Amino acid sequence: MREYDVIIVGAGMAGLRAAVGTVKRGLKVAVITKVHPLRSHSVAASGGINAVLPQNGEAHQPSDSIEQHYRDTLECGYNLSEPEAVEILVSRAPGMIREMERWGCLFSREKDDRIAVRNMGGATFPRTVYASDKTGHAMMNTLYEQCVRLRQNKPDQLRFFEEWFVTKLLVLNNTVAGVVALEIATGKMEIFSAKSVIWATGGSGRIYGSTSNPLTNSGWGLAVPLYAGAALMDIEFVQFHPTQLSGTHILITEAARGEGAVLLNLKGERFLGSYEDSKRNMELSSRDIVSRNIRREILAGRGVNATCVHLDMQGIGSRNIKKRLPGVRELCKTYANLDPVRQLIPVTPGQHYTIGGIHTNEKAETGINGFFAAGECACAGIHGANRMGGNSLLETLVFGEIASSGVAEYISQKHGRIPNKQYFENAFEDEKNKICALLERNGKTRPAEIRDRMQAAMDEFAGIYRDGMGLVEAGKIIKELKNTYRDDLGVDGKELRVNYGLIDAIELRGSLDIADIIIQAALKRNESIGVHFRNDFPSRKSRPRHSLVRLQKGKIRIHYLPVRDKKNLFDLLPSVWKTKK
Ligand code: FUM
Repeated sequence: MREYDVIIVGAGMAGLRAAVGTVKRGLKVAVITKVHPLRSHSVAASGGINAVLPQNGEAHQPSDSIEQHYRDTLECGYNLSEPEAVEILVSRAPGMIREMERWGCLFSREKDDRIAVRNMGGATFPRTVYASDKTGHAMMNTLYEQCVRLRQNKPDQLRFFEEWFVTKLLVLNNTVAGVVALEIATGKMEIFSAKSVIWATGGSGRIYGSTSNPLTNSGWGLAVPLYAGAALMDIEFVQFHPTQLSGTHILITEAARGEGAVLLNLKGERFLGSYEDSKRNMELSSRDIVSRNIRREILAGRGVNATCVHLDMQGIGSRNIKKRLPGVRELCKTYANLDPVRQLIPVTPGQHYTIGGIHTNEKAETGINGFFAAGECACAGIHGANRMGGNSLLETLVFGEIASSGVAEYISQKHGRIPNKQYFENAFEDEKNKICALLERNGKTRPAEIRDRMQAAMDEFAGIYRDGMGLVEAGKIIKELKNTYRDDLGVDGKELRVNYGLIDAIELRGSLDIADIIIQAALKRNESIGVHFRNDFPSRKSRPRHSLVRLQKGKIRIHYLPVRDKKNLFDLLPSVWKTKK
């Protein structure tokens, strides 16, 4: 058994920022990650990170303010956001940028040497700080360098377990105790005991077929805490990004539209002008609106084919494309054999961001003692019903840091007593037996077949437009797939080591459960708000409320919480779920 103060699961931006924060606070930290940190999905983030950044004594846009960033975030989220969490997010943003810069992050600069900012959808002023169109890459390298530096200076305090896969979160008496993990290369399973765990596993986009997320974002990251007793908040809110490169999982960053790219239909018209909700802000309307209107245009027969419209970047000019959007150009040339300097890009909306997630308060605390969550896997209610572009990278830094300070405080208060050896031995045996039993499954259906059908159902029925009949149909399909998984699953390869077939099978269980929960929560939300658009309930309800999902005896239970004022979020939990903190 390995023993740590803190285990961080996931090494994307939230995980790495939490690693820096916890090591600096003197804690002994293990970071467990399925892939090398620099292969995490955060590396793919392109557009930028929002912050109102006074420089040389003044904001880029003199009329911009932190209050305006706050208001824009709430407005973009259709007032389903938690005000306190948003206030923390926006007010800590400038400090986070300064910190990244101090650590060596090469943000793009204006001619006068100020940090450059660009436009993103839903923002009143340009305030998205960026590093060309490879912002995630620049920030992740900076954070990883900090981790390497800390590891060199404090080798006993920080250890990365790369290509390890967490199979279970250990919780005893509503208090976190550690995780069980499998080393992918050797097949060795181990217990990691810890006083505290920070969960930072990112999004769950691969529940859908059409998504900008990588294969690693399977939904397992939400399923594991759910199985351990955590609640999921607002999970029916799934964000579609308007411009995914047709036929790929590649995102064409919103920064392209921020820099002046326009969307065109088959006739070459800027169609967003003909829709009431996008005619004012056009290509910089919020993502839910642009995605819906692209789909409308296609359904009206004005797409360039059955799935796409065109993104025209030519107006940005060759010089600016090469300077400010070189990554987009490179991707288009490599994967679509076209040059956006003089050609149109076929784009389609695709799943991009999991707005809902593990229910936390603004301190990144979950309802389980010692268990914290940060970044895309978490839901403190920041993004409400629709996330503003550029706020997700910001959330990872701000809440990665908040989780670190929360963990340090929790441990210093002598919480986090480690259970006895027997508990861990039993938990280990139990988990190992389950995994070995799965390995022995010899049914006829491969995980990939089940996943394909799940993704097709989610794309068709739980996407940009939803309705009751479609969601019921999707629910039936998922139920059938769960039965197939239970009765007829076959796992290729009978060894634990380097067995991606096994990992796929393990994760698929989580994908199916999270898909089921998204569908059930979407079915119960009889209204349209933000990214959740119900054709059969096109208007919104008067009082915004969060959904909260738990598993109770294996059954999905959905409750609702009002959007909070300044009270503690956990005061509002349904009494059946309340556990003493
Ligand atoms: O389009 C983009 O660059 C995405 C940014 C974001 O999701 O915040």
